[in-house]
Amino acid sequence: MTKYLVQGGKPLFGEVEISGAKNAAVAIIPAALMVDGVCRIENIPQISDVTLCLRILEQLGANVRAINRHTVEIDCRKIHSTRTQQNPAGKIRASYYLVGALLGRFGQAEVAMPGGCNFGGLRPIDQHVKGFSALGAKVIVEGGFIHATSESDRLKGCSIYLDVVSVGATMNIMMAATMAEGNTVIENAAKEPHIVDLANFLNSMGANIRGAGTDTIKIRGVDRLSGGTYAIIPDQIEAGTYMAAVAATGGQVLVKNIIPKHMDCITAKLVEMGVEVEEHEDTLLVRRTGPLQKANVKTMPYPGFPTDMQPQITTVLSLAQGTSLVTEGVWSNRYRYVDELRRMGANIQVDEKTAVVEGVDHLTGAPIQAYDLRAGAAMVIAALAAHGESEISSVHYIERGYEDIIQKLRRLGADIRSVEEPEEAEERKAHIG
Ligand code: EPU
Repeated sequence: MTKYLVQGGKPLFGEVEISGAKNAAVAIIPAALMVDGVCRIENIPQISDVTLCLRILEQLGANVRAINRHTVEIDCRKIHSTRTQQNPAGKIRASYYLVGALLGRFGQAEVAMPGGCNFGGLRPIDQHVKGFSALGAKVIVEGGFIHATSESDRLKGCSIYLDVVSVGATMNIMMAATMAEGNTVIENAAKEPHIVDLANFLNSMGANIRGAGTDTIKIRGVDRLSGGTYAIIPDQIEAGTYMAAVAATGGQVLVKNIIPKHMDCITAKLVEMGVEVEEHEDTLLVRRTGPLQKANVKTMPYPGFPTDMQPQITTVLSLAQGTSLVTEGVWSNRYRYVDELRRMGANIQVDEKTAVVEGVDHLTGAPIQAYDLRAGAAMVIAALAAHGESEISSVHYIERGYEDIIQKLRRLGADIRSVEEPEEAEERKAHIG
């Protein structure tokens, strides 16, 4: 049982290097299954979701070779199965991308129903199924598995209008359509940077995809993808999380290896709150010296303010002067972490999709829990800014998506460390508590 111990109240100073984007990597690695050759993927983040994705590919027969800490070579010429095992495919959300990839190349897929972050609500996949069906696949969910089979030799290109703007459905349909016969058009597509990244990866392997990053994506089916080299984009949310941490603690940090354009939606909100952000070619200098101002935030699909930054920005707003309104526009239930912030002295009321955040002078360290990946990042930010010591549990969620978070924060002067605690001690504490 790993926990993080944090002595809060220290401003952050220095430089932080942003890793490759988690939500691009967990789609691009499954997409490598479609490549009839060796693909070399660079700037892969060292996070547990990536480790699990690579393990699933190996179980299916891929040869995965680590070249260095952030580069792998994946050879999917000898795939021997289109059925995943329950473990670890059932553990991560992104395993749904295996359906699009396997179906796209082999015409069939059997994939354990995805797990991953639980925000307390359902995470439907009806739009993915709608897309696969329109391409000519039969899809059923049975025995904890998604079974998808092409009804003819090859999937057939088609036009699909998504009923909701879904990142996962857009990427999954894009993969399935890459080797379909003829042309596919996805309308009302999501526009996140990782969608463009997946399209660029597939194109660099021989696909013909146009329009990724707009709401209409056009795919001309090709017969085969062959190998190549591709580097994953920097992680917008990891960068945003460090920016939010500086906003909460004060200090000055150079956030390196980012694409400033991807950060605009986050930068604009922080500037509104009184944080200074200086943009350079692939870095942002973030500085907070004065008090934080209130702001209203509504999460939306890209280029709106990202839902994956909602817990972090709410945490920063809990320390701002005045009353802020946060509206969650993507997920129905993503405020479970607010109870933890309240334990630290935050004054936040949640009514369905809206959080009313009354800024307080300071937070106080407390034992707190990471409920999911981004809620966990918010707990780290709260603990760094709080007076006194905090102990964060369930940190495995955080390690799903943040590479070397402890080391990166320590280099910025944070007093944070990871400790292993035996389970019995945990239980004893729970009883005393
Ligand atoms: N939705 C449907 N039907 C579908 C798919 C989605 O109704 O078939 C709804 C969802 O319920 C939600 C909205 O559409 O209300 C958006 O969901 P989306 O499909 O875009 O989410 P996702 O692909 O499952 C990815 C990220 C999430 C991120 C969302 C939104 C991955 C592996 N996950 O999820 O990231 O919150 O997009 O940007 O890429 C995270 O990194 O912490 C994380 C949860």
